[in-house]
Amino acid sequence: MSANLRDVAKKAGVSVGTVSNVLNRPEVVSPKTLERVQKTIAELGFVPNGFARQLRSGYSRTIGLVVPDVANPFFTEVARGVEDAASKRNYAVFLCNSDESLEKENKYLSVLIQQQVRGVLITPADAQGHEYENLRERGISVALLDTETKNSSQCSVSVDDVRGGEIAIEHLLSLGHKDIAWVTGPETIPQIVDRTMGVTKAAKVGKAEISTIRVTLMNVAQGEAAAKKILLLKKMPSAIFCANDLLAFGVMRVLLDAGINIPEQVSLLGYDDISFGNSAAVPLSSISQPAYQLGVTAAELLISECEDSEEHAHQQVKFQPQLVMRASTASK
Ligand code: RIB
Repeated sequence: MSANLRDVAKKAGVSVGTVSNVLNRPEVVSPKTLERVQKTIAELGFVPNGFARQLRSGYSRTIGLVVPDVANPFFTEVARGVEDAASKRNYAVFLCNSDESLEKENKYLSVLIQQQVRGVLITPADAQGHEYENLRERGISVALLDTETKNSSQCSVSVDDVRGGEIAIEHLLSLGHKDIAWVTGPETIPQIVDRTMGVTKAAKVGKAEISTIRVTLMNVAQGEAAAKKILLLKKMPSAIFCANDLLAFGVMRVLLDAGINIPEQVSLLGYDDISFGNSAAVPLSSISQPAYQLGVTAAELLISECEDSEEHAHQQVKFQPQLVMRASTASK
């Protein structure tokens, strides 16, 4: 049977209260006693009841991570960065997928409150829904991930998606493409709103004709559905820009199956530069986002706010996207 608090106290020759202090308030225990009790804990293999400690101390060494879909390799990378940074500070991470649903997001936020997490990193499902703001009233820190905040009293880590949309259209214009299909997602998604702003801005400057095909979810199946709509257009655009790489993979599959050559007949450009892009049937050109670094930076900012809230200075960090050219885009 595993050792308990009493076994440790007996073997170390101290009270149960002292063992509890070693676990919860080591700063009040003398170094000599601290060392003796910690040595006994290790010898007996005692594992403190985290939940009991959590109840007593009023918070847990956990943070919540709420993202749209961790099956999207972009968010897989982000989550890995979050977890690596959190574990360095002895925090565990509760991962929640909102599926771009405000209802599901709010359900998870309630669960995270019950779990007494110290803080929450969230990629909001909806630019308007701000349910996460009531976490702060409960003493739970919140930092926005992959979404910019205009609120200087909140941390955020994002990528300049307006610039990302611009870079994409500028690249296609530089290859001579003026008739471009823009396969994009719901306008409730902040990143989509910004990318569209960049697309519109660059298309106006370069006098490109943009035909928008809107999908409901940012995944491969929806990319395939978008490609089927494009095949029905009177005139095939000379280039297709997709709001993320998963959409681009879906478009690529359908076009290749329809016997359309990429990039000879149509150039295809994605967004995220996820790791599979390089090994796609036609290596995918994309607009890269530093997903892992986004996760690391967001977790570091959140935990700094949780632990040193007095000294903590809120930051709104914005990374820059970059064009990664591969075989799927070429001159018209
Ligand atoms: O969630 C949809 C998209 O937003 C992801 O593919 C990534 O680009 C994120 O910024």
